[in-house]
Amino acid sequence: MENKMKFHWTNRLGLVTFFTVLILLVSMPAKGQDGKALFKANCASCHKALKNSTGPMLQGAKARWAEAGEADNIYKWVKDPVGLANSGTSPYAVQISEYSPTAMTAQGHLTNEEIDAILDYTDSVTPVVKKAGVSAAEQDEVVEDTSLIWIIVLIVVLGVVVFAARGVRKQLSYVVAEKEGVEIDVNKSVKTKLGEWILRNWKLTTIMFLVAAVTGGADLMKRGFEVGVYADYKPSQPINYSHKLHAGEMGIDCKYCHSSAEKSKHAGIPSVNVCMNCHENIVESDYRAGSTAEIAKIHEAAGYDSETKKYTGQTAPIVWNKAHNLPDHVFFSHAQHVSTNTGNIDCKQCHGNVPTYGLGRVSTTEEINQLAGTDGIIPLTKPLLTMGWCLECHNEKSVDLTKSEYYKELHNRLGSRPDFLRKISEDDKVTVRELGGWECAKCHY
Ligand code: HEC
Ligand code: HEC
Ligand code: HEC
Ligand code: HEC
Ligand code: HEC
Ligand code: HEC
Repeated sequence: MENKMKFHWTNRLGLVTFFTVLILLVSMPAKGQDGKALFKANCASCHKALKNSTGPMLQGAKARWAEAGEADNIYKWVKDPVGLANSGTSPYAVQISEYSPTAMTAQGHLTNEEIDAILDYTDSVTPVVKKAGVSAAEQDEVVEDTSLIWIIVLIVVLGVVVFAARGVRKQLSYVVAEKEGVEIDVNKSVKTKLGEWILRNWKLTTIMFLVAAVTGGADLMKRGFEVGVYADYKPSQPINYSHKLHAGEMGIDCKYCHSSAEKSKHAGIPSVNVCMNCHENIVESDYRAGSTAEIAKIHEAAGYDSETKKYTGQTAPIVWNKAHNLPDHVFFSHAQHVSTNTGNIDCKQCHGNVPTYGLGRVSTTEEINQLAGTDGIIPLTKPLLTMGWCLECHNEKSVDLTKSEYYKELHNRLGSRPDFLRKISEDDKVTVRELGGWECAKCHY
């Protein structure tokens, strides 16, 4: 009895240290990684921290805006660059807009704190000393991941404390055992010792186990929610094709290139032959720096010699990378949504104002909501390509049952179901959901 009291303090010391370390562990890396993750997700397609690329290098950007006397405008810039440049209130924004003919995409979904986190991150990136045998890409930008170092330091400290506490306990138990004349088996196996330690420190072990389960679970949940969130995703492409030029300035219809959108599951990416309809003759362009070289890539893919105007037969297909990508277990059909007989939804509702984009990319919910009200576009709140997005629209969007044969037939079929008639009479509108658009099997194989 008496010795139990004596040992109590080591237990407490262990617990207190454990919690201090735990709190530090949980809070530190979370802060450190935020900016990096946000940068990767939203800016890295165009920006590097230490080098100019599509956009200017971001390191020192904050200081540059402050120097120009526009410290606060950097947030407005990131959220709406074109708006700020056109506002007449920011000479620096006008100046920086000259950098490239590709406008920076508005990042209106970010808060000032998130922008700060990104810029703090890019300011913290340090150049790596060149090492022989390492590729340029590898030594491009490496961040000192200080959070990781801290975690290791803390784990070591925790270990030392636990073992110190154990050492003290062991000494004490020898003393006690000696006093009481109990024999101690010094040769117990590590396994039995560990088992006993766990039993003796069951409170600590339970807490450790729970914490591991909760943080592990939280991480899984977080990943679960992020599954399929592709907002703003723009992969790199073999040719710097521009929607802004072709669909915007030249006004080529989307379906000229994405011709299967109305008829089949996939909208499709045009083959090089579609490009060659025009580019057999359009060999040069001064639209932007390097345009002619980009067109030459089309000719190379088609096996076309632009000087002799002959096909060589040596083709090399262009491999476009997909920006939109639903998981394999989801069924989605463009025809069902786009065809005038069925959904009759404008491309913009799901892809944004593509004629202002360069390469194709996944739009953000905010960008699309700015278009709401035009061409039947409704505002939605969920990130694109998530299940919540599909369900939200199916719950909001009404369909006109008198519009086509397809719906008339559907109406006749459902008309005999009392629950369906009741739902319609409630609000006078028929949503996709009421037609079965929330049934798992409609979207899942
Ligand atoms: C689609 C490409 C693109 C993306 C994505 C993008 N930017 Fe830009 N950014 C540019 C371009 C291009 C410029 C130069 C201005 C111009 O030519 O319009 C620029 C300029 C800037 C500037 C001004 C730089 C300076 O030297 O003052 C800042 C700051 C900036 N971007 C921050 C961001 C942040 C933060 C993100 C991510 C949240 C981001 N950008 C995402 C293309 C992009
Ligand atoms: C001259 C041909 C052409 C026209 C016209 C055109 N596109 Fe594209 N589109 C492409 C090519 C090539 C790609 C693949 C490269 C890329 O991602 O930009 C593409 C990619 C896309 C993507 C991204 C697909 C993905 O997930 O990778 C979307 C979305 C898109 N186009 C929508 C549209 C819309 C909407 C219009 C009409 C406003 C349109 N396109 C007009 C050629 C065209
Ligand atoms: C109801 C929303 C919706 C509408 C409307 C819509 N799309 Fe899509 N689009 C998607 C989804 C979702 C994907 C991803 C499909 C996948 O990964 O299987 C996609 C993918 C694409 C792609 C990539 C290639 C492919 O077929 O997967 C292109 C190109 C495209 N859409 C063009 C268009 C064009 C052009 C229109 C208008 C004629 C249009 N989309 C209308 C939701 C829509
Ligand atoms: C309907 C005709 C037409 C089609 C189809 C077409 N283009 Fe073009 N494209 C043009 C014209 C015209 C120009 C030159 C514009 C200028 O310089 O003012 C051009 C310019 C370009 C440029 C150089 C400008 C830039 O953005 O840097 C590229 C690259 C290009 N096209 C790629 C493609 C690809 C890839 C396809 C097929 C997916 C394609 N084009 C299909 C008409 C077309
Ligand atoms: C902007 C609104 C909108 C979005 C976003 C949307 N849908 Fe739809 N969807 C519709 C409309 C409208 C119809 C009705 C067309 C019809 O009756 O055939 C429909 C019908 C369907 C159907 C046929 C339902 C039935 O009862 O036969 C399926 C399957 C479907 N959508 C899948 C999806 C998936 C998967 C997504 C997300 C990747 C999605 N939809 C996103 C508007 C949308
Ligand atoms: C309107 C279309 C639609 C309907 C109806 C629908 N889903 Fe989904 N579901 C999706 C899409 C799109 C995804 C992929 C989104 C993503 O990866 O985040 C998805 C993803 C999922 C996932 C996640 C799988 C993963 O990869 O993490 C599960 C589980 C799921 N659905 C179950 C269901 C169940 C159960 C129902 C019926 C109650 C249902 N879904 C109805 C469109 C739909």
